[in-house]
Amino acid sequence: MNKKNIDWASLGFQYIQTDKRYVSHFKDGKWDEGALVEDATVCISESAGVLQYSQSCFEGLKAYTTVDGRVVTFRPDLNAQRMYDTAERLLMPPVPQEKFLDALDQMVKANLAYVPPYGSGATLYVRPFLFGSGPVIGVAPAPEYEFRMFCTPVGPYFKGGVRPLKLQVSAFDRAAPKGTGHIKAGLNYAMSLYAGYEAKHKGFDENMFLDAKTRTFVEETGGANFIFITKDNKLVTPKSETILPSITRRSLMYVAEHYLHLEVEQREIPFSEVSEFAEGGLCGTAAVISPIGSITALDGSVIEFPSGMTNIGPITKKLYDTLTGIQMGSIEAPEGWIHTIA
Ligand code: PLP
Ligand code: COI
Repeated sequence: MNKKNIDWASLGFQYIQTDKRYVSHFKDGKWDEGALVEDATVCISESAGVLQYSQSCFEGLKAYTTVDGRVVTFRPDLNAQRMYDTAERLLMPPVPQEKFLDALDQMVKANLAYVPPYGSGATLYVRPFLFGSGPVIGVAPAPEYEFRMFCTPVGPYFKGGVRPLKLQVSAFDRAAPKGTGHIKAGLNYAMSLYAGYEAKHKGFDENMFLDAKTRTFVEETGGANFIFITKDNKLVTPKSETILPSITRRSLMYVAEHYLHLEVEQREIPFSEVSEFAEGGLCGTAAVISPIGSITALDGSVIEFPSGMTNIGPITKKLYDTLTGIQMGSIEAPEGWIHTIA
């Protein structure tokens, strides 16, 4: 396979158009066969559900080149299931799991030249999405939908690669109790843009959102869950009904317990406890594991993690190495985690 002439090592997290994308339409109560197309643009009604009432959702997963030269994806069945659950909550026709997985195989195979080589530090980010394409004018679910999937080669989500991040506690809320925080609806990201802009403007890398009801418990960032390591080496991660059930986090909890033999706790984490942790990190498909250096609270006080502002903490590093080792085939994966495409 001839790879595209891309400087893989200098890629950031930006869109690069690749050759093929998958498109399927839902009309008259059923999905069509779906196909790969070359056109990267979308043509829909001016009154489409997505344009008027933000009826849209998405997923994010990656394809990796393994140490032995295969191209694989990581637990894609969980992305398919999460998109199914999200679609139901937004009154969109769910994409059957087999259709999602078949689209993924077809689309990655058609773009193999864009899958970054093993050891390059880059990966192929896959973006499945579903939106109301048919016209609405009263507030109602759209009559027609499009399910699409494209990919783009990416480097690290945060500029500068794996480095400790400066976070602030957001003065804005991300997700209401009984709202949509637990699903991957596009609207959750639209409403956190302003908070993200404000954080970056003030020199922070990201926001830490607290629970909207009491403003006391740690929730997540705009695009990743949190993990923390206690001084006695337990992995602690927030339990909340209003955060996205991260596939990376679920995997890290398993890795911590079964590969690193650490105790794992998923429970409510009061913000007041954060200063007691030895290490902290953001985890997600795009973020992988990005260590936290400091968190500035709403009153301006700063929590500095003992792991410091230059290095990733030792347990976080072990988690990072084990997870990425599993994804890239240098460490044996639990049954069913790795799906080989080519
Ligand atoms: N939380 C939010 C809000 C996200 O957007 C993401 C990214 O998908 C995550 C958490 C991490 O989820 P995953 O590990 O499944 O990518
Ligand atoms: C992902 O990690 O796949 C996401 O969707 C997060 C987004 C902020 C890029």
